[in-house]
Amino acid sequence: ATGAITLDPGYKNSGSCKSEITFLDGEEGILRYRGYSIEDLADKADFLEVAYLLIFGELPNQAQLDKFENDIRKHTLVNEEMKSILEGFPKTAHPMGVLSSLTSALTAFNPKSVNVENEKEMYDAVCKTMGKFLVIATWTYRRRMGFPLNYYDNTKGYVENFMRLMFEIPTQPYKMDQKIVDALDKLFILHADHEQNCSTSTVRIVGSSHAGLFASISAGVSALWGPLHGGANQAVLEMLEEINNNGGDVAKYVLKAKDKDDPFRLMGFGHRVYKNFDPRATIIKKAADDVLDALGVDDPLLDIAKQLEKVALEDEYFKSRNLYPNVDFYSGIIYRAMGIPVEMFTVLFAIGRLPGWIAQWKEMRTNKEPIGRPRQVYTGSPSRSFKEVNQR
Ligand code: SDX
Repeated sequence: ATGAITLDPGYKNSGSCKSEITFLDGEEGILRYRGYSIEDLADKADFLEVAYLLIFGELPNQAQLDKFENDIRKHTLVNEEMKSILEGFPKTAHPMGVLSSLTSALTAFNPKSVNVENEKEMYDAVCKTMGKFLVIATWTYRRRMGFPLNYYDNTKGYVENFMRLMFEIPTQPYKMDQKIVDALDKLFILHADHEQNCSTSTVRIVGSSHAGLFASISAGVSALWGPLHGGANQAVLEMLEEINNNGGDVAKYVLKAKDKDDPFRLMGFGHRVYKNFDPRATIIKKAADDVLDALGVDDPLLDIAKQLEKVALEDEYFKSRNLYPNVDFYSGIIYRAMGIPVEMFTVLFAIGRLPGWIAQWKEMRTNKEPIGRPRQVYTGSPSRSFKEVNQR
């Protein structure tokens, strides 16, 4: 129930793994990246510092951080031919499906990064992925809107570039709001890694066949897309909007979520490992108040979310099952206040999670782990003889 795993001595890489990257304690609600608490990192570090920490194991000094940022900048140009792949999608295509396809397509334009044989090739693949993924992630939105595609501005920061790449239009330079950049930086940190969750395990197992970093990340994007995983941040907003449109009766939805005959679940609630508050949700809930105040946004959905949380946490069904708000419960309210469209919420989760995926892939490849091969408990038919079709 706590996700506790034991390494099966009899079978290497049987689906559980050892890692030095992220520690979480579901009972106590503790989350640490390379030993540093998520609270400290969210409060004192910036996203590229945390990305460096996750990927290379130590917080960078200024020279290392500057070099990392500059090396990422060298790889933010995406091959122009990638645009024809993007244009092949209908404007209505979900951005996560487009992002997964474009990420996989990066292999075709960067074949050398498939097989990393040494530290330098590994480092180049890391910087290429950090640089190009951010750009193509925003292209998925630009395509939907019918806007021209933007290019990374090497005079600006990584998170600042995200907002520019998303919203700058030729007739009107994007007016940067530092409050939004700071809040987004913190949100990306909070999403940066989370041990062996569904999408990270996907990245590790695809990477264990030596399929290459872009292909592994592409698979991680597809896994994250699901509404039970990263797609929950979009589903939470859709749920809150439905409650709001139906008069704000949160008790009715809590009741609905408890009904075993109803497939509806309270999106943004519950977790495979946390049986206590998700520490990220605590930080994001406070950030939601701060960011909406700072932006002068009064969003009724924030009040509905708080009421929903209160009613659920007082309800025996949720209490007895240790169901608490998770990372996805409040994040969408902040994205909405920043003007991010709901269909892009899970793409933002992917941008935040990218360093974690890269770090976990790098750890698995550096440790020369064998190909992933989870075992099973066979529950099918015992041995039986073949029957001719006229005897069936
Ligand atoms: C993420 O793994 C990670 O670390 C993921 C993540 C990360 O950073 O990578 O943290 C990100 O994916 C967070 C989760 C986002 N998903 C949602 O918010 C979707 C809504 N939540 C769920 O569907 C559910 O809680 C899961 C998928 C997150 C966990 O599913 P489990 O493991 O099946 O839940 P469980 O075994 O803990 O359930 C125990 C009971 C069950 O009822 P009973 O069979 O005991 O009667 O709780 C019920 C479940 O039906 N339950 C819920 C519920 N979540 C669990 N009932 C109503 N609403 C919910 N949200």
